[in-house]
Amino acid sequence: MFASEVEAGQLNRRVQQLRTAIDEANYLYYVLDAPTLPDAEYDRLLRELQEIESANPEQRTSDSPTQRVGAGPLKAFPEVEHVIPMLSLNNAFSEAEVAAFDRRVREGLERSRLASESADIEYAVEPKFDGLAVALHFRQGIFVQGATRGDGINGEDVSANLRTIRAIPMRLACENPPDWLEVRGEVLMLRRDFEHLNQAARERGEKTFVNPRNAAAGSLRQLDPRITAQRRLSFFAYGVGRIEGASLAETHAGVMDWLAEMRLPVSNERGLVRGVDGLMGYFRALGARRDTLPFDIDGAVYKVNRLDVQAMLGFVARAPRFAIAHKYPAQEEITQVESIDVQVGRTGALTPVARLKPVFVGGVTVTNATLHNEDEVRRKDVRIGDSVIVRRAGDVIPEVAGVLLDRRPMRDPLMPEFPAFSMPVVCPECGAPVVRLEGEAAARCSNGLSCPAQRKQALMHFASRRAMDIDGLGEKLIEQLLEQGLVRTPADLYRIDPTRLASLERMAEKSADNLLRAIEASRNRDLARFIFALGIRNVGEQTAKDLARHFGNLDAMMAADETALQQVSDVGPVVAKSMRAFFAEPHNNAVIEELRQAHAWKDGEAQPKSVGKLVGQIFVLTGTLPTLSRDQAKFMIESEGGKVAGSVSKKTDYVIAGAEPGSKIIKAQDLGITILDEVAFLDVLKQGGGQQ
Ligand code: IVH
Repeated sequence: MFASEVEAGQLNRRVQQLRTAIDEANYLYYVLDAPTLPDAEYDRLLRELQEIESANPEQRTSDSPTQRVGAGPLKAFPEVEHVIPMLSLNNAFSEAEVAAFDRRVREGLERSRLASESADIEYAVEPKFDGLAVALHFRQGIFVQGATRGDGINGEDVSANLRTIRAIPMRLACENPPDWLEVRGEVLMLRRDFEHLNQAARERGEKTFVNPRNAAAGSLRQLDPRITAQRRLSFFAYGVGRIEGASLAETHAGVMDWLAEMRLPVSNERGLVRGVDGLMGYFRALGARRDTLPFDIDGAVYKVNRLDVQAMLGFVARAPRFAIAHKYPAQEEITQVESIDVQVGRTGALTPVARLKPVFVGGVTVTNATLHNEDEVRRKDVRIGDSVIVRRAGDVIPEVAGVLLDRRPMRDPLMPEFPAFSMPVVCPECGAPVVRLEGEAAARCSNGLSCPAQRKQALMHFASRRAMDIDGLGEKLIEQLLEQGLVRTPADLYRIDPTRLASLERMAEKSADNLLRAIEASRNRDLARFIFALGIRNVGEQTAKDLARHFGNLDAMMAADETALQQVSDVGPVVAKSMRAFFAEPHNNAVIEELRQAHAWKDGEAQPKSVGKLVGQIFVLTGTLPTLSRDQAKFMIESEGGKVAGSVSKKTDYVIAGAEPGSKIIKAQDLGITILDEVAFLDVLKQGGGQQ
């Protein structure tokens, strides 16, 4: 053999090695959501491959991972015809409609005697992904083309954009791939990627996307694939179109398993059930998990599992008889803005709130939606009278996702149109000047606890369940206490006059007694609760716990300067600054003194454990570990003197990641922090950490 042939052979092998490693990393990260390769390593492999390919262009093939980055912009998307039309699904909105669907299926079968009369039909069930449908074509296992659904007959060739989606394999993992395989599925954007995208847009002062589906559609239909490459899109397969040179499994579930084997992403949420009861059980179970799924869904899809039965049932008009989409209540609706009010929060932050014409969305009637802050209202240009999209997903507070500008009412040309929103210059509650500090999103009332709105919110926070937990002391009662001058500060609660309390309107003697008892019971709360109850800006429950554990007593914490405060895990410069600002306020110190006299809290002595193998090491947990529960892992770390923080920062030493980790893992990778799985964690526990 010639030397050059040997070299070419080596080069070839290296190229294959690199591609396999990169494809594997993409699969683990984007399909299984279980990343293993650090970002830096991934980048190194990709760079090496790019270098080899540019020095040896004959090595470059269309399925190479280097071809995902995005080529130059197109003028327009070429049109492509779907050889097998992409149809849509009929919808069901109630159990009765689901039962009717199942009845039609059974009747169809009885007529053809394909099923035994008594048995319940077996259905493959899966989420109805809220994205956009695409068809992906693989010739001999290599991705060659992909198109949007379009009108079902003709779509747009968005191949270059689909290549940038790392969850889509450019080569199927299959020894004997079919000559031709058309995979159908949904392109979508995961909620966390959508949040990142909108956050970045907000920081640049640009328009945000209304929802993940619009973001996905907007990104996939970009003429410049380099833009698509920067957006993180995902994909889930849900079926097969054209297939040549291979035969399919006998069931839909079998087909999905086959696609998964070839490393195409299919949802883990899929299942098999029988009869209407099975369908409804799945619908309810999926519905209960809807808000915690990593992506938006708008229903469940039920498909007769056996493909021969599907073929027999066939289609009616533009939809199959063998499948149906069972929809959940909408999480978005359109309504009108009646006015825009400004609310004053606990720390004086002014929040614009849209008062809406009542609308049923996300399972409740919504009349208010937050507009977050001044910049957000401006960016969205929400005005009184506008038609807006209101979104309420899960327990999240309803928000105005966007304005339908083309529905803005045409006004009498002689009348001024509703002006763009601007923040009031004085606090709507107390009339004090409003200030907005540089770098802050929120405008604030400058009056501190002299502002009645802030005082009320501060008291509500102080009494709340996770703070001092004063049972029965809610908003209405606090308003009364403030109005009647019985209470001005939290310290006043502990010296409330029982006779005056009992004489409050609507206050029965028994409730007065109950309240007094609840206040009494709240004395001597542990330090962490007390610190949280003070309502210091940026000091949440976890930070309060960390502070209490670190300092052990309030005086030590109050004496600490910004540097000393930042010794505490999770405390950075921002938190340290707001703590110092809080304790620099004479009024706050006076109230704390009074609370001390009232024995509102008791100091602890729990200093950070200074023995153990993990002293000084900070861990962050994310995802589900195979055998340990989160509390067990936490306990093990803390018993060795280590700390568990809630979020990843530069101070984090290790991130322990299990299945379905959150965005913490991305942050950890960005910061180059060591990521451990359970086995590696147990190893660190045995050896002691101290890598840095
Ligand atoms: S099957 C013959 N399965 O819903 C139609 N569609 O209304 C086959 N969709 O255009 C479609 N999740 O974009 C199917 N698990 C799923 C789906 C799904 C979302 C979308 C798809 C389709 C639309 C039909």
